[in-house]
Amino acid sequence: MTFAPTATLHDGTLMPRLGMGTWYLGEGRRSERTEIAALRAGLDAGMRLIDTAEMYGDGAAESLVGSAIDGYDRSRLFLVSKVYPHNAGRSSLRRSLESSLRRLNTDYLDMYLLHWRGSVPLAETVECMESVKADGLIANWGVSNFDTSDMRELFAVPGGDGCAVNQDLYHLGSRGVEFDLLPWMRDHGVPLMAYCPLAQAGSLRAGLANSSVVCEVAAAHKATPMQILLAFVLCRDEVVAIPRSGTADHVLANWAAREIELTADECAALDSAFPAPDHKVPLDME
Ligand SMILES: NC(=O)c1ccc[n+]([C@@H]2O[C@H](COP(=O)([O-])OP(=O)(O)OC[C@H]3O[C@@H](n4cnc5c(N)ncnc54)[C@H](OP(=O)(O)O)[C@@H]3O)[C@@H](O)[C@H]2O)c1
Repeated sequence: MTFAPTATLHDGTLMPRLGMGTWYLGEGRRSERTEIAALRAGLDAGMRLIDTAEMYGDGAAESLVGSAIDGYDRSRLFLVSKVYPHNAGRSSLRRSLESSLRRLNTDYLDMYLLHWRGSVPLAETVECMESVKADGLIANWGVSNFDTSDMRELFAVPGGDGCAVNQDLYHLGSRGVEFDLLPWMRDHGVPLMAYCPLAQAGSLRAGLANSSVVCEVAAAHKATPMQILLAFVLCRDEVVAIPRSGTADHVLANWAAREIELTADECAALDSAFPAPDHKVPLDME
């Protein structure tokens, strides 16, 4: 199946299906120069989506992204950030968003997500999201770490069906969302943003990239096992992947993975080695 470069949001916005995550960037694991060069390598190659959060390094990841995008055409970028659950109410959401915008050196986000469910009622968060959207500070809003029952609850509150995406952990070794969440989201026009697509976390991650079936498929495509993990996620319609890397080489390898077309036999082999569960399992989270 040929890679479709965008997913369509409920308002018709086209969202890039392959972008860059930023958790742990800006925290000194590598030099700032190296990490900025990694993000810019992705942007220069054609990546447009960057996923970040106020939580990551206490704003450090957002600041790094702000430096990396300096000089790029903002209108071509698709910037996603997330609000802490404890900031997702009337008293703090707008202030949190304004701080994120300042660090990112931009005046709007393409997507603002509730990072996970907390104690603020969903109806209040929706009201705040709609208010900052009406003021042009965000183009769309969504949620993260929501399971099917959470999505149903969200869609039952006034304006809750304005949710544009749900970001959850999803990779070859963690396929619980395929049971009833992905079908529900498809029925309701809500794309999935797959985090940890390279199996950095999740129920089954150890050895995933070393498994014989993944290595065999990789060899057939002259690709790396990590690229096959990414290709597995990207061959699902309306699923967006946000692998994270602090090195330009890995970012470019991840971008190249969109060109890998898995055959039906290869998909069947991956399915049989790492089947999706045939029953409901708790939502996997990092
Ligand atoms: N909403 C949430 O609750 C939530 C939770 C977790 C993550 N996220 C988002 O999703 C993004 C991705 O998830 P993640 O960062 O946890 O994990 P991930 O993307 O699955 O894996 C990242 C790891 O893979 C390595 N890597 C990346 N590309 C590679 C390649 N081509 N070959 C070999 N190794 C490679 C990276 O190391 P190098 O730097 O050395 O390349 C890093 O150690 C995050 O950065 C964040 O933006 C969201």
